[in-house]
Parts: sequence; structure tokens; C-alpha cells
Amino acid sequence: MKKTQIITTVFEYDSVDELPLEEQELVKNAKEAALRSYSPYSKFSVGAAILLENDEIIQGNNQENSAYPSGLCAERVAMFYANSKFPDSAVKAIAVTARTNGSFSGNPIPPCGSCRQVLLETEERFNQPIKLILYGEKKIRIVETVKEMLPLYFEKEMLDE
Ligand code: THU
Repeated sequence: MKKTQIITTVFEYDSVDELPLEEQELVKNAKEAALRSYSPYSKFSVGAAILLENDEIIQGNNQENSAYPSGLCAERVAMFYANSKFPDSAVKAIAVTARTNGSFSGNPIPPCGSCRQVLLETEERFNQPIKLILYGEKKIRIVETVKEMLPLYFEKEMLDE
């Protein structure tokens, strides 16, 4: 028997002002996107903003549906749109935030498991780390790569094994 430990490093900040300007701008874009979310069922509005290698910023938000599973999370809306519009541009970072009851969540919102898998595909596709900036009004968490957020991940090489 061999015991292995997997370590995830998380950087925590108290205020967005502590981040570099480029990241502050990305958070601002995620907040803007959250305001346009279509989430009449959960009333949980999520906004995501993606910074591409070509300096474009792509926003996305959750899009819900009366047939609940047909809706999609903000992170995947943003990532699929980024990859469809700029298929040759790597992704540098993604900022995520959420609103409930008329204000932004105090705690940072981590991407769900399905979104982590989708973000990982893009990280692998361009072989470049994607920084996750998870914004809450009281706390901001930064994780340097998607892989760290999804240990023991599934990837395309496994399809050939
Ligand atoms: N949601 C996101 O957009 N991103 C996440 O990471 C978690 C959940 C959305 C899906 C659904 O529209 C609402 O939040 C409640 O789960």
C-alpha cells in the first residue's frame, strides 16, 4: 500500500484592491456578467469573465431553463463561447462571482465539477495554466491552475489506454 497526498494551494485575499489591475478588471467583467444572468428558477446569478492570450475578455453567465438540466453554468457558457470565437487563443484566467438577494456573495464561488472538467480541457488544449479568480465580497480565492482544482482528473490520453 502506498499513500499519496495531493496538495492544492489556494491564495486568499481580503480585497480586490490587492490584485493586479488586469485581474481587478476581470473581476469587474464577471460582476457585470452576473447582472445579466438568466436565472429565474434558482435566483442565483453567476457571472464569469475569461481573459484570453490575445487580451480579449469574454463574459458569460448562467442560463437556466424550465427543463432544469437544460440550463448551463456561467463558466461553461463563457468558456465555450471563448473557444468558439477564438479557437487559437489560449486562456490566461477566469474570474467567477455570484449574486443572490440583490448583492454579491460574501464568499467566493467555486466552479462545479462539470465546469472544472470543461475548464481543464482548455488548459490541456493550449498547454497553458488557467488562473481561477473566485470573487466574494469578503474573500477572494485564487488557484493557479485548473488541475489543482480537479485532482485525479480525466483527460484525453486515457481514451487510448
Ligand atoms: N451555477 C453556475 O453558473 N456556476 C457554478 O459554478 C455553480 C452553479 C449556476 C447553475 C444554476 O443556474 C445556478 O447556479 C444554481 O445552481
